Amino acid sequence: MTRHGLLDLTVDDTLDLPELAEVLKHLRTSTKVSAHTVLRDAADTGIPAVQPRCGVGGHDEMRSLLQRLETGAAPEILSLTIDSHTRLRRFDVAAETLRTAPSHLNGYPLVSHGWKRGRELDACVRAPLEIRHGSPDARDLFAVAIASGITSFEGGGISYNLPYCKDVPLPVSLECWREVDAACGTLADAGVIVDRELFGTLTAVLVPPSLSIAITLLEAILAARNGVRCVSIAYPQGGAAAQDIAALRAIPRLARRYLPPAVDVFPVLHQFMGVFPRARDKADALIFYGGLIGRLGGAAKIITKTNQEAHGIPDVEANVAGLRTTRLATSELLDFLRVDADRVEEEQHWIEREVDELVGPILATGDTAAAIAHAFAAGTLDIPFSASIHARSQVTPQRDSAGAIRYREVGELPFSRSTLQRHARLLDAGPRGGADSTRAISTMLRDINYFADNGNAAEGGAPS
Ligand code: 5AD
Repeated sequence: MTRHGLLDLTVDDTLDLPELAEVLKHLRTSTKVSAHTVLRDAADTGIPAVQPRCGVGGHDEMRSLLQRLETGAAPEILSLTIDSHTRLRRFDVAAETLRTAPSHLNGYPLVSHGWKRGRELDACVRAPLEIRHGSPDARDLFAVAIASGITSFEGGGISYNLPYCKDVPLPVSLECWREVDAACGTLADAGVIVDRELFGTLTAVLVPPSLSIAITLLEAILAARNGVRCVSIAYPQGGAAAQDIAALRAIPRLARRYLPPAVDVFPVLHQFMGVFPRARDKADALIFYGGLIGRLGGAAKIITKTNQEAHGIPDVEANVAGLRTTRLATSELLDFLRVDADRVEEEQHWIEREVDELVGPILATGDTAAAIAHAFAAGTLDIPFSASIHARSQVTPQRDSAGAIRYREVGELPFSRSTLQRHARLLDAGPRGGADSTRAISTMLRDINYFADNGNAAEGGAPS
C-alpha cells in the first residue's frame, strides 16, 4: 500500500492510475449529466429518479447489461455492483476468477478491469453510474472509479463495516472512509461534485428508522467536515406507510439541523430489503408499494428491487420490469393519493427526536470518529442483527400492530423516558425472557417474514 498522487489516497502499489490533472480534464470535459445533477432535478420536480442494482463479471457482458437496462427502462442512474472479492480487496482472487470463470463473480471487478474499461462503461450509456459495493476499505476502488469518470460512490465507515464484516475495528473503517471523503473534498474544490450515498439499510432486517438515520447522519457529518458536498442518505423501506414516509421526510429536516447549508442532502429510498415474497405478483405489488412510498416521502431516488429477489441475482428482464413497475407508482397520475397527515407528522416528530437523542451525546465530544467507536463498544450506538463483534446487537426490534418497527429492547441506547415509554406502549410489551423466549423468537420471525409468502412459488409464476 502506498499513498498515491491521485487525491492522496492510500492504495495498492500495483494500481496503474493516471495523474490527477488528466483525471480532472476527463471529468471536466465529460458531456454526461452527473448523479448530483440528476438528484437535484429529481428533488426539484418531486419525481424520484430510479436506479437498479446490476453487476456481472465480464466486461462485454457488463456493457451489454447496462445498455439493455437503459434501452428497457431508461433509469436516471445506473449501477456498477462490485463483486465480493473486490469489496474485500482480494484483487488477485477477483482477477484470477475473471480470467478462469467470470460468471462466478457476483459483480463487476472494476479494480481488475481497470479505469480504462471503467471509462468505456461510463461512455456506453447516457445515465451516470454509481459504484455500489460493501467495502470497509474502498480506497483503491474509489481511486479507480474516479479515474473512470464515475462520480457517485456508495458506502461509509459505519454502514459498510458493521453489516458486512465480522472483525474490522470501527476506527480502521472510519479512517479509510475519511480518506475517501477527503478526496471528494479535493475534487469539490476542483469543481467536481461526487455524490456519496450512505447505506442506511444496514443489516436490512427490521432496522428502526431512527437508528438508520442517526448512523447515516453521523457519517454525513464526518463526510461534510472532510469536504463532501453531496450526500445521499439512503433509508430502507420498513413496510409501514406512515413510518416510512415520515422517515424520508425527516431526512432533509435533520440535515438542515446538523449539516452545513453548502452540502446538498438527498433522501433515497431502498425498496424493501428484507425477505421478499417468492410469488412474482406479490413481489411486483411490494415493488409498486415502494414506488408509492418513495414519491410520497419525497425521495430524490429509489433503488429498485425485482420480482426475482427471493430467487437470487435478477436477470435483465426482471430488472427492467422492477424499474418500470416503480415508475408506474411514481407517476403524476397518482398525485391525488394522500396519506394520514397527522399520523405521518407524529411519526416524524418522534423519529427526529430519537435521532437527536442518539447523536447528541456523540456530537458533544471533541472527536466524532472516536466517539462513534466508543459508542458502539458501549452499546450507546447499536444495530440489530450485526455480524460484527464491534457492535453489541442488543437492540431488539419488533413490529407494532400497524406493522411499524419499534424498539422492543433498547440495550444501552441513550433514549429519554418518554421515548422508551412510547415504544413500550406501542408494543404493549408483555412479560419477557425465561419461558417467554420461544414466543419472542416466533414474534421476531413473524416480523422478519412480514411480506414473505408461504413459500408457494407457483403462485404468480416463479422465474425458471
Ligand atoms: N446484480 C444485481 N443485483 C444484485 N444484488 C447483489 N448483487 C447484484 C448484482 N450483481 C442485489 C440483490 C439484493 C440486493 C442486496 O442487491 O439481489 O436485492
